[in-house]
Amino acid sequence: MINNDKRKYLILTYGCQMNVHESEKLAGILEDNGYEPCTDAVSADIVVFNTCAIRESAEQKIFGNIGELKNIKLAKPDMIIAIGGCMSQQQKYADEIMKRYPFVDIIFGTHNLADFDKFLKSRINSGKKVVNITEDETIALRDKLHICRTSGVNAWVNIMYGCNNFCTYCIVPYVRGREVSRPEEDILLEVKGLISEGYKQITLLGQNVNSYKGLDEHGNEVTFAKLLLDIDELAGDFRIRFMTSHPKDLSDEVIDVISKSKHICHGIHLPVQSGSDKILASMNRKYTKEQYLNLINKIKDKIPDAEFTTDIIVGFPGETEEDFNETIDVIKKVEYMQIFGFLYSKRKGTVAEKMKDQIDTKTKKERLSKLLAVKNEIVNRMCQNMLGKTYSVLVESYNENGVLYGSLDSGKTITFKGSKNCVGEFVDVKVVQVRKSVLYGEIVDDERIKDFKEKSFKNPLEVSILPKDQKSMKLLRENKNKKKLQNDFKSKN
Ligand code: 5AD
Ligand code: SF4
Repeated sequence: MINNDKRKYLILTYGCQMNVHESEKLAGILEDNGYEPCTDAVSADIVVFNTCAIRESAEQKIFGNIGELKNIKLAKPDMIIAIGGCMSQQQKYADEIMKRYPFVDIIFGTHNLADFDKFLKSRINSGKKVVNITEDETIALRDKLHICRTSGVNAWVNIMYGCNNFCTYCIVPYVRGREVSRPEEDILLEVKGLISEGYKQITLLGQNVNSYKGLDEHGNEVTFAKLLLDIDELAGDFRIRFMTSHPKDLSDEVIDVISKSKHICHGIHLPVQSGSDKILASMNRKYTKEQYLNLINKIKDKIPDAEFTTDIIVGFPGETEEDFNETIDVIKKVEYMQIFGFLYSKRKGTVAEKMKDQIDTKTKKERLSKLLAVKNEIVNRMCQNMLGKTYSVLVESYNENGVLYGSLDSGKTITFKGSKNCVGEFVDVKVVQVRKSVLYGEIVDDERIKDFKEKSFKNPLEVSILPKDQKSMKLLRENKNKKKLQNDFKSKN
């Protein structure tokens, strides 16, 4: 029930799953401070932007969205606006936000999210702005926050922070610092708790999970393979996913553990970035096309039903048509089930920023659309091959028309009819139709279904911290008119 006396929060999340999960931690801090969620900035007593810096397009959007709050702040001077995440972690952006948007109240970074509670109290009690982007390597040991989970049947679990790889295009090592792994005991405790709460999918998160090096309760070093093994041995009906893997660090032990595991999904996200040896070297990826393809083949040998997804950047400085064709060749050889393709975006402070032979936008766009056409053709063919086959599907969400959405072990989604009591359960679904790489299925008759009960997972479609949060931004835009805002504000008070 909505309590009108309670103060309201809205969190706008940009970027990757790591940010979505960190917004769940921010939501936990806000709820501990007596706030409850809302879905529009007009009702909000505090709006938090959890920002992303991976590509320029994200930054432009965020600046625009902060600007859109100006009128709301004029109408509601007591509303608190806080900006955190990868963009504000950088001093030059923190300075720019203060200069361009003086109405912002709190600026914090990625390292000190756990201190947001302190920043909030300081702003409320002193009325003064708080700007604090201090770097703090102890983050992994302080990760015991109340997490307000909003991703339905899936629960994110951080296993490590930061990245040591310094791929030449990437801003992440600059905004998230060096690699720090959480103690294994803390991770196991969190995962056990989630399984007993009924979460059916646990996704282990880190910029490069394969270089996880935590300590066990006796102080012995634990590798990623050992961590996976220990989680896999926990009792319960659940899946384990992990992201993201760097191909250079995906060890034989990890492949072995996955191939023998009960719970670890066979859908593996393995970013290749490029298929050209010249570009891979220039990106500082530390593997060649041949080494990457050998790794894929090794996985396919040990795990015959493995399915791959990947990230690819097109238009990296110096990329010729021949280099790009090497990437297309990798796509055809691996046959990815999904590709996240990106136009190379110059990031200030990275090595690639200064490289010669930057590629023009038109060429980048042409390459990306060619890449996506090749991908679509392959994915469609793979989906057609699935017709008539039955898969175990985790039901993730539903809509009021009785349509269920679920995911296969590979991560591929499927749509089918059924009761909303199926959400949070594994059901067998037969693929009956494929349209433009979208799978449609039918539940295979199963006696168990009639005993399923409705569960209290938050439907990911209903919460207010979704990535990009289009719903809130649309409301925000609709409410731009100051007069209307003031009236709305008066009628609420
Ligand atoms: N430009 C374009 N894409 C990038 N990525 C990281 N940095 C950049 C950049 N500067 C992509 C990589 C990475 C994914 C999360 O984002 O493909 O795997
Ligand atoms: Fe960025 Fe490379 Fe680290 Fe991934 S591995 S976060 S692409 S620097």
